[in-house]
Order: sequence, then C-alpha cells, then structure tokens
Amino acid sequence: MKTLIVYSSKTGNTRKLAQALHLALSDAELCRVEMAPNPEPYDLILLGFWIENAVADEKMKHYMERLHGKKVGLFATLGAYPDSKHAAESLRATASLIPDCDIAGHFICQGAIDPELIEWMNTLPKDHGYGPTETRKKLWDDAGGHPNDEDLKAACEWAEGLVEKETV
Ligand SMILES: Cc1cc2nc3c(=O)[nH]c(=O)nc-3n(C[C@H](O)[C@H](O)[C@H](O)COP(=O)(O)O)c2cc1C
Repeated sequence: MKTLIVYSSKTGNTRKLAQALHLALSDAELCRVEMAPNPEPYDLILLGFWIENAVADEKMKHYMERLHGKKVGLFATLGAYPDSKHAAESLRATASLIPDCDIAGHFICQGAIDPELIEWMNTLPKDHGYGPTETRKKLWDDAGGHPNDEDLKAACEWAEGLVEKETV
C-alpha cells in the first residue's frame, strides 16, 4: 500500500508527530505541505495539521482542495484538551472540507501554544473570549510540553492500526 504523510506545522508540534509516524510506518513517504505531491498515486494519505481557529490551518486547508475520492487519516495538534468538544468540533469541521474522501480515522493531541500568542492573550481582559482566566491559564500551561513521548507513542499506534486495517 502506498502511503503519504503530509504535514503542516508552524511551531514544530505537528512536525514532531509527522516525523514519529514516518519512523513507525517504514514504507510511508513524508512531505511538508508546501512541497506535497499530487495525491493521486497514494492509497492512504495521512494529513497532519494544527488547529487554527477551530479548523485545520490555512496551508492544510489549501492542500485539501486537491483531495478527491481518497482514503484519508487526520492527525492534529491543538492548544485545547484532546477530549474537549472544541477538539471534536475542529476535527469535524476539517473532515467536512473533504466530503468525497473516506476518513479512515483521526488522532489529536495537545501542542504547546506559541509563546507570542500567550503573551498577546495575557494582555486581553479576562472577560474576552481568549482572556487570561485561571482556567485558560491552566490550559495554556498544560499544553506546554506536548506532544510528549506518550502522545507520540499513541499517534504511532493509531497510524499502525490504520495501515494494518487498510492492508487486510
Ligand atoms: C493563530 C493561532 C490560532 C490557534 N487556534 C487554535 C484553536 O482554535 N484551538 C486550539 O485548541 N488551539 C489553537 N491554536 C494552538 C495551536 O493549534 C497549537 O499550539 C498547535 O500545536 C500548533 O502546532 P504547530 O507547532 O505544529 O504549529 C492556535 C494557535 C495559533 C498560533
């Protein structure tokens, strides 16, 4: 089976996941979204992106316009907790961009938030949607250090399971 891993990453979190998947899936090709090839020859395409305003980031959204009738796995990092409604809705919004593709599965974990963004959010009033409440500050702290070894292991297990399922 011909597998392609395409990823988009601004600060390196999603790149870490993509590189771990590449090591785990020995036959897969790895490519940054900026250099991503024609998707046509691939049986399975794993799309890695970061969540930007509750959907895949702009570069990945652009690449997704080229995908039609493909089998796809989605993996992503985000600041919010992976079991949150926000994470589920962000994945759903992303999947809805490729309605004629078959989504074989998804994986999502936290990724450290860009310090510049945290600095800016700290300047906002607390009652602003992104303002520095105690709950949000805890979330930003918790995101730091992710993806960690446990996340990378879980992502690899997810991808191996996906490939195995598609191969039988
Ligand atoms: C402009 C911007 C918008 C973001 N929007 C969201 C968001 O809507 N939800 C969320 O949980 N995290 C959001 N984040 C956090 C990133 O998704 C997260 O830190 C991710 O791991 C970054 O991945 P990267 O290092 O691969 O670029 C945003 C970050 C930036 C810089």
